[in-house]
Amino acid sequence: MVFLERILITAALPYANGPLHLGHIRSTYLPADVFARYQRLRGRDAVYVCATDEHGTPVVAAAEKAGLKPQEFVDGYHAKDESEFRQLGFSFDVFHRTSSVENRETTQAFYDGLKKNGFIYTKEVEAPYCTSCSRFLPDRFVVGTCPHCAAEGVYSDYCEACGRALHAGELLKPRCITCKTPPVRRTSLHYFLKLSAFSVKLAKWLGENKELQEEVVNYVSNWVKEGLADWDISRDMEWGVPVPGETGKVFYVWFDAPIGYVSSTKAWAKASGRKWEDYWQNPETRIYHFIGKDIVYHHYLFWPAMLMGVGGYNLPFAIPTRGYLNLEGRKFSKSRNWFVSLESFLREFPPDYLRYYETAITGYDVQDADFYWKDFQQKINNELVANFGNFIHRTLVLSKKICGSKVPKPEGLDARDKEMLLHLEERKESIGRLLDSIELRKAQEELLALSAEFNKYLSDKEPWKEKDAAKAGNCIYVCLRGVAALSILCSPFLPFTAKKIAELLGLEAGRPAWEDAARELLAPGAELKEAKPLFEKVGDEKVAEMEAALRSG
Ligand code: 2FM
Ligand code: ZN
Repeated sequence: MVFLERILITAALPYANGPLHLGHIRSTYLPADVFARYQRLRGRDAVYVCATDEHGTPVVAAAEKAGLKPQEFVDGYHAKDESEFRQLGFSFDVFHRTSSVENRETTQAFYDGLKKNGFIYTKEVEAPYCTSCSRFLPDRFVVGTCPHCAAEGVYSDYCEACGRALHAGELLKPRCITCKTPPVRRTSLHYFLKLSAFSVKLAKWLGENKELQEEVVNYVSNWVKEGLADWDISRDMEWGVPVPGETGKVFYVWFDAPIGYVSSTKAWAKASGRKWEDYWQNPETRIYHFIGKDIVYHHYLFWPAMLMGVGGYNLPFAIPTRGYLNLEGRKFSKSRNWFVSLESFLREFPPDYLRYYETAITGYDVQDADFYWKDFQQKINNELVANFGNFIHRTLVLSKKICGSKVPKPEGLDARDKEMLLHLEERKESIGRLLDSIELRKAQEELLALSAEFNKYLSDKEPWKEKDAAKAGNCIYVCLRGVAALSILCSPFLPFTAKKIAELLGLEAGRPAWEDAARELLAPGAELKEAKPLFEKVGDEKVAEMEAALRSG
């Protein structure tokens, strides 16, 4: 197969320290999956990689709480995350892990490269140390007050309230998370990446790369203008990728996590007989990193600087960045029990309902969105069921009634019939253009507009009243062309539904490519399967139950 284009797609690696919830899906994994599925349908060589992010103090803290060793703890979440992601149809080519051998070796190789190129130095720093727990307290082992925005209960490496990465010692009123003791200061040798050396190059890259989201570039560029401090990339702890030649020191989790994108690609390439270098080191490959807005600092600054510093790697082509998802007007919060886990959603509803709804509320920007159960119900019932599902079901039921479940042969199509076939071609093109530019919500809206047009056509034509058999047959033929096209055009968004439609039509799921969507995929005379409704409505009682479950915690 000759690939027209090579694309690497990544989704921010989820920390293996807690259950996935609906917010994670919306900003990152779902948009990346819709995009990856579409690119593959276009025949492009698109590889979608993800992994669990398994190092760092949040993992150690959560493992300690659960009474497990960090490795045992992350093994559990790695398996759970992978299973839930698969249930949602996420089509990762690989779902790897940062505690893997590949990631250790790749991280150490990055470090060696950066060191060789003169971008690493060491310095004695004063670090917080808990005398009662007898250990250094890096990052999330300490909480206190943000020096920039005065938010309370902030971890020492990153302020969730103002989105800034914090440097060691900056946090005000620090306390140990385990025993609440204020830490003392002890000196320790730390490794630094000379981030300051990349300011000019980063500013140029941010300014020149038109594929980067402008609104994000604007505020990240301000951080560059304010001056970038060198970045402390080592931690005094045991769990992590060891710093070569040291004992008791590992790399900071944010150093080895993005390298996880590379090491996961390596693991995939090895298993599938491909070359990872084609994706990371061939400048013709486009790399898309899908992320949530809380990690722009790391993806627009740290990671490109690391790639520039080690040399020979492609820089990100695009970094699609989305906002947070709120739940019924409030922030998701596990600790306050304001939370819908993916697991509990999947117990109640088909995966395509979540895919549909979350795409429908996610634009190409960093705006936050809201998940409301009533809005979910309304969108599923009025759009997915009453428009999209209804058109397909009506067509199949009428095909049986009027044509004995056989695809009719078109004879003398009239102007309206031909116009509908033309619509298919036009919509396929415009949906494709929107998907290429990652305007996923707009693309899904066009998909629904297409099924609405076909619904109207079918209602206007009333083939069930038509006396002329050829005219009635023509209408069914045109509608079946619409159904076949929808089965392909919907598949990036609704892969499970696409498969069901393909089965009803006797098409091999995913076989016809995007380009074929508007062609005659069903030969006249072909047998159709018995019509079955594709969806069920979301009932009022179910909504009330979900709302009550949320409020009762
Ligand atoms: O913020 C997070 O959830 C991180 N685990 C994302 C890591 S993305 C990448 F760089 F690996
Ligand atoms: Zn302590």
